[in-house]
Amino acid sequence: MAVEGGLIYVLGIDVGTGGTRAIVIDGSGRVVSSTTEEHQPFASQQIGWAEQHPEDWWRATCIAVRKAIASANLSAEEIACVGFSGQMHGAVILDEQGSVVRPALIWCDVRTEKQCRDVTAKIGQERLIQLTCNPALANFTLTKLLWVRESEPANWKRVRSVMLPKDYVRFRLTGERATDMADASGTLLLDVAHRRWSREMLQAAELDERLLPSLHESPAVCGEISDKGAAESGLCVGTPVVAGAGDQAAGATGMGIVSAGTVSATIGTSGVVFAATDRPALDPHGRVHTFCHAIPGRWHVMGVTQAAGLSLRWFRDTFATNSSGIRETYDQLTAEAAKIPAGSDGLLWTPYLMGERTPHLDSSARGALVGLSASHTRAHVVRAILEGVTFSLRDTFTLFREMKVPVTSIRLGGGGARSPLWRQIQADVYGHAVEIVEAEEGAAYGAAILAGVGAGLWPTVDAACASTVRVATRVNPQPAAVATLNASYSAFRQIYPATKGIFTSR
Ligand code: XUL
Repeated sequence: MAVEGGLIYVLGIDVGTGGTRAIVIDGSGRVVSSTTEEHQPFASQQIGWAEQHPEDWWRATCIAVRKAIASANLSAEEIACVGFSGQMHGAVILDEQGSVVRPALIWCDVRTEKQCRDVTAKIGQERLIQLTCNPALANFTLTKLLWVRESEPANWKRVRSVMLPKDYVRFRLTGERATDMADASGTLLLDVAHRRWSREMLQAAELDERLLPSLHESPAVCGEISDKGAAESGLCVGTPVVAGAGDQAAGATGMGIVSAGTVSATIGTSGVVFAATDRPALDPHGRVHTFCHAIPGRWHVMGVTQAAGLSLRWFRDTFATNSSGIRETYDQLTAEAAKIPAGSDGLLWTPYLMGERTPHLDSSARGALVGLSASHTRAHVVRAILEGVTFSLRDTFTLFREMKVPVTSIRLGGGGARSPLWRQIQADVYGHAVEIVEAEEGAAYGAAILAGVGAGLWPTVDAACASTVRVATRVNPQPAAVATLNASYSAFRQIYPATKGIFTSR
């Protein structure tokens, strides 16, 4: 056990899309070091395709882990346990020798619309949701495996095992083929309600269960660092590893979103509203994802806005860049927007720049700026974008109400939690106080907490969150703005049905 002057350290590794982050925390939850090593940008040979090389994740992991341990001034023996988190849904396929057969199709690769239609036609939408709690979406792993089988039969013939991105890194570190319930939920092969692989889905897809990794709860120890893994990563042979979790469940754990009633609203490139639940809460139309949580016996539901922060970035890059290519900062833009009253003097924005997942499940949906008059300024447009993105996140809260998912506290994450204006807009649009937590390390922090539970630092994930996650700021809604924005939200809800026909017919 890693004890140095009474202190115990654990390591969290988050295999993201842009890079891999490694963080070391101590037994009080304090972040001792944090390092991120960038990945190669994903390849996109055709519109809608996205591929990455698993070897690049492994390279980035080895660098980030070595740097994180060195900058914490520790030796590898002092790391008591390792936890994982990572981008979800990606299809990593390996041959008999454990070598990668072809680059991974990652979460944002949506080439598999045909396979989604085929799976849905074969099983039936209703039965699919009964079996896996979710509809077939092009993001999900199964549809990617079916694409490889249909389109690249020679590659498929060589496949002997299939795994998710962070589990490939685990495989290189430990030699084990293992995954956790939360990440497995995004494959469309998990019986999410009963937390086991779905025999019926495997049969319908004609896939052998032996292709899949073993399943574990997130804080469970399910392997240890091998000689080979230690030699390459600098970790110590025999260090235990826990199963970990997909990035959304791990990120929520790091923000203390663990028991029913706690909800997070995270605005990064995309926007995610995530609620912990004590049952697998279902939307019969599949407009939110229902997945296992990183806590045994708990689940979560989440709604996804595809272009949340991306809406603001698109506006800045397109309209707020001067002739020498210098972009205005987000702070400059939001400072202007803060002078405009709530409701943006009637201007409305729908953020469907990349189609939409929640609530429309429509990849042909498109953005719209509605209600322009000659007196509107650039600042109005920026404020309308911030409000419109937040209305889109509110759509998930509206679904939660229909599904009887309780919401007692809301914590903000991502860039939307850092801007004072966007924090206030979120409190006003949700009509609810919002909280911001101290640690800003995202999913890697959740992965480290899970490792801490595996190392026995805390008896449960709840106990870990209770002693490590601290609220730094609380923002209350302002009644006058709430009333104005309620009226704007009603108007916002009318835009998609009114404009839908324009985009699908083109
Ligand atoms: C979750 C999702 C993303 C990816 C990439 O459904 O698509 O969170 O895990 O980060």
